[in-house]
Amino acid sequence: MMKCHSERSLRSEESFGRVSGGGMIEKISVLVIGSGGREHALAWKLGQSPLVGRVFVAPGNAGTSLVAENVPIAEDDFAGLIAFVQENGIGLAVVGPEVPLAQGIVDQFQAAGLPIFGPTQTAAQLEASKAFAKTFMQEMGIPTARAAIFTDYEEARDYLAQNLGPAVIKASGLAAGKGVIVCDDTAQAESALQEIMLDRAFGMAGDEVLIEERMAGPELSLLVLTDGVTAVPLLPARDHKRIYDGDQGPNTGGMGAYAPPPDVTPELIDEIMTTVVHPIIRGMAERGMPYVGVLYAGLMLTAVGPKVVEFNCRFGDPETQVVLPMLDGDLAEIMLACIEGRLSPEMVSFHSGACVTVVLASPGYPGNYPKGLPITGLDSISEDILAFHAGTKMSEGQIVTNGGRVLAVSGRGEDLGTAVSRVYTAVQKIHFEGILYRRDIGR
Ligand code: AMP
Ligand code: GLY
Repeated sequence: MMKCHSERSLRSEESFGRVSGGGMIEKISVLVIGSGGREHALAWKLGQSPLVGRVFVAPGNAGTSLVAENVPIAEDDFAGLIAFVQENGIGLAVVGPEVPLAQGIVDQFQAAGLPIFGPTQTAAQLEASKAFAKTFMQEMGIPTARAAIFTDYEEARDYLAQNLGPAVIKASGLAAGKGVIVCDDTAQAESALQEIMLDRAFGMAGDEVLIEERMAGPELSLLVLTDGVTAVPLLPARDHKRIYDGDQGPNTGGMGAYAPPPDVTPELIDEIMTTVVHPIIRGMAERGMPYVGVLYAGLMLTAVGPKVVEFNCRFGDPETQVVLPMLDGDLAEIMLACIEGRLSPEMVSFHSGACVTVVLASPGYPGNYPKGLPITGLDSISEDILAFHAGTKMSEGQIVTNGGRVLAVSGRGEDLGTAVSRVYTAVQKIHFEGILYRRDIGR
């Protein structure tokens, strides 16, 4: 087992100024499901809870094995996960990615009487079906881009021919973040439509298509914890989706993030809670599909106010790697309160200052990239920096790359500028061949 500096810093609450309790509390074991940087951050934060004893991650990565115990069960092996939870008396299971949620992992755990944090399959439609989410928002009067929904190619093409302005073409179903094509003109929109509906570039995810009005403005990610009735926001965050500095090049899963964005006021958060979050949570409950878990509202701050771009039914990646280090509360207690319908706003408070994360990616990402490149320098970064692993694995005692996004290096500061300079100092100490990262995160 590797013992290194980064392990100590990730294990230590002291590095971020928290001292966990202990004493006579009966501790629970926790299972985090997934294998990316988001899951590393979840396992790290859950491990700080005085309520939590052992933390397991299935299947995890080289980084999660430094803060938890990896279990070789795939995230879609529901029977295997349920058996593990039953055999090990797990008191809280937490789902990272959207695919198992959309496939009904929460319903299966609930049927077996097991405690799990996340929305049911029906509630997860808010992410898994953009058509469902859009129709719902239209019915509830929630501010979002105007859109029309089609299952027939000719009808969609005729709609585009009306030239209603710049459009965004979206496959309704899950497409690993790739099913959205932002178009500059009608010709581009027509070819996007063909790609999704005729060439079936995203398979069944494109059986239903949205043609949306193209909005403009800065984006914002607001992650909200909810027990189905009460909803409490985490700190707002902003991610950088394009691969190159200055927001150039193709979209990625996210090249970095920061929280909170200086332009986002408490009044704006209140407005988003009032116009978007509370109506959604109330509407889902009224329709008999209460939403429990974390709801990620992707928003655009347009000239006429905040509008919804999309919902995700899970924590964001890499937003989690900045919002959890800023959370000054007991994540395990908060998640249990969500499951048990007793969430209250006092449970959720934040550290002052700001947090930044910079993603270190493989050469070639978001296209094809090599795997197995040795990573060095992780043991030389300072204790107040958190190196969350996204795509890594252990190979012959060495941590090597094992994905497009390899690491998310997070750090806090009394202000954004301080956090940025701390993180980039650390980033310069980490190496692998062809390392790719943006120099302008949070700047
Ligand atoms: P999504 O996967 O829905 O988050 O979309 C990916 C990205 O496409 C978003 O983060 C936005 O930058 C962009 N996008 C999606 N919908 C719109 C829209 N209606 N107007 C402008 N940009 C959009
Ligand atoms: N950071 C974007 C996402 O998690 O979908």
